[in-house]
Amino acid sequence: MLQFKRTLVTTALPYANGPVHLGHLAGVYLPADIYVRYKRLKGEDVIHIGGSDEHGVPITITAEKEGISPKDVVDRYHAMNVDAFRKCGISFDYYGRTTSQVHHKTAQEFFLEIEKKGIFTKKTEKLFFDRKADRFLSDRYVTGTCPICNNAEANGDQCEQCGTHLSPLELINPKSKLSDATPELRDTMHWYFPLGRFQKQLEEYINSHEDDWRQNVLNYSRTWLKQGLNDRAITRDLSWGIKVPLDTEEALGKVLYVWFDAVLGYISFTKEWAEKRGESDRWKEYWQDPESRLIHFIGKDNVVFHTLMFPAILMAWNEGLESECYNLADNVPASEFMNFEGRKFSKSRNYAVYLGEFLEKFPADTLRYSIAMNYPENKDSDFSWQDYQNRTNGELADTLGNFIKRSVDFTNARFEGVVPYESTLEDWDSLGINWQETLRQLDVAFEQFHFREAASLGMEIARAANRFLTESEPWKVIKVDRDAAAKAMALSLNLCHALAVALYPVIPETSNRIYAMLGFQDKIEDRFTRGSSLAQSLLGPALSKGHKLRAASEILFIKIEDADIAPELKKIEALLAEAEKREAGAEQDRMEFKPVISFDDFLKVDLRVAKVIAAETVKKAGKLLKLQLQVGSVTKQVLAGIARYYTPEEMIGKHVVLVANLAQRTIRDEVSEGMILAVEGADGKLFVIEPDGKDINGKQIQ
Ligand code: 2FM
Ligand code: ZN
Repeated sequence: MLQFKRTLVTTALPYANGPVHLGHLAGVYLPADIYVRYKRLKGEDVIHIGGSDEHGVPITITAEKEGISPKDVVDRYHAMNVDAFRKCGISFDYYGRTTSQVHHKTAQEFFLEIEKKGIFTKKTEKLFFDRKADRFLSDRYVTGTCPICNNAEANGDQCEQCGTHLSPLELINPKSKLSDATPELRDTMHWYFPLGRFQKQLEEYINSHEDDWRQNVLNYSRTWLKQGLNDRAITRDLSWGIKVPLDTEEALGKVLYVWFDAVLGYISFTKEWAEKRGESDRWKEYWQDPESRLIHFIGKDNVVFHTLMFPAILMAWNEGLESECYNLADNVPASEFMNFEGRKFSKSRNYAVYLGEFLEKFPADTLRYSIAMNYPENKDSDFSWQDYQNRTNGELADTLGNFIKRSVDFTNARFEGVVPYESTLEDWDSLGINWQETLRQLDVAFEQFHFREAASLGMEIARAANRFLTESEPWKVIKVDRDAAAKAMALSLNLCHALAVALYPVIPETSNRIYAMLGFQDKIEDRFTRGSSLAQSLLGPALSKGHKLRAASEILFIKIEDADIAPELKKIEALLAEAEKREAGAEQDRMEFKPVISFDDFLKVDLRVAKVIAAETVKKAGKLLKLQLQVGSVTKQVLAGIARYYTPEEMIGKHVVLVANLAQRTIRDEVSEGMILAVEGADGKLFVIEPDGKDINGKQIQ
């Protein structure tokens, strides 16, 4: 394995458009913090850079809703999130903001450099314009009916009902969210980043990480690569954002697309970190020295921005350069999602536990431990209050806390608060676990981002230690054999030390409290030297005979009573009831029949039986199947939003009901000459209506 001189860890910049919740913590910030704390323990050169993503349309929508400025919105949530992260012990070396001057300058430099190299392309496209509001409407500002599932409130970028990604031009009856007016189409020119130009380089880059990246990260990236990379617009017609830095008519009123600017925030904030330390060039070491390692912690929804877009932007910058090239990420440990009581966190539905609010009631380390034990590494996981209570009481309080307190108290009571014996490595054999192997596994788990395993191993050590102390019974043995009791206590105290260190990345505050109880004046993180893995630093006894403990012990974890979580459970009940009501409401809506039509109107609809003779998925539209239908002697092509429920093979040979005289539509550059009928069943699954009978192909349904 390559040895790196230093590591730069970045965490996805949360939008300063709402408070971060436990889902964010579990997927991104806690794993990153565990990793950097582990690296610091080993005395490695590591920095953790994060910050607020302060541009983007949702922020202006919040501002408009509340009648305040976008700046007010981001000021509020930036401060709120900084405070929540601090309380949770997320140890950023720097936490910036994309509204900073340094960042605006950096993003503009990147734009200009790539523009100077002639890499961008420019295209004029038709975009909706709201005449009343005198503004171009970005995707999020347009609503209308989904062409796939007929949801009347689809967004311009996506339909929440069927999940299809849309372009506003695909919406039926589009409306402006600003004024409710029907928008008109106007020409507008935009800069595009030609991702396809970097296709080969990106493929090589992704393939070079076949063995060390998570499967989900490779899969998401390869799905995009397989479809072929297209040009991506990197400018928008908006007022909130980083201005396109050109003095030309065509740049007027245009800002950089929020994702183009956000990923560059990692660079800007490293510059600001260096500046703050008075070493303004130091950022280059982390970004441009090939012996530095770059790691992005993100959630699965951000994968392609970090494995394809950002690397391509850096490749564009690096093109033609001999030196001072930017490093590409060495790893992108993207998490799956952590759900909450069996459902997805949803900010828009207020179905969430916000980090700041949680920490007003419960201590950070109990949360950190519980979440580490539920780290959604390879599959979605779940946070529940019951699990949180059980882990806090059973594992942290009864096992870890109890062991530490018993060890310190007994030593204080019976051995004058002094380590009473010089332990040797052989003494650890009585622990009942393979000590050396456990430490080795712990190092691997931290190093390879298996944080659930790391926390579990830590707790396994605590269990073994607790068992050892209970079975040694020094409180009885001391009456007949003081030396044997001394030996048991020396090992127990060394285990207290080892547990403090081993669990430090997960529960840093508690670890330092244990350290203080053991009589150390400094902090754990100040004691480790370069190159010392846990296997090296914890192998032998750390506390020698005569080492003096602090006189007073303390209770490390207060148990969580049923009464403590009762209000939280009540809240969930209310939220779930609300969700059920919403779902029932939707059901009732379905019973509200559409306005009456005449028989003649009905006769206008030409419903026919058709047979599916070919079917395939549609490039870049994961939800769509392209069907070739035989209708009597005619063949028609229809796009249907059923790819999540039927494979192409399953559809071939089926008889379906076709609305045969529906006006032709173009979706994703493909023509659709009708619609097939389907009904929504449980969990939103669509079932295609399959007429039954002999010789029915092409027949009219009446
Ligand atoms: O999905 C999000 O919340 C984005 N704000 C993440 C940006 S990550 C990076 F690019 F800055
Ligand atoms: Zn839809």
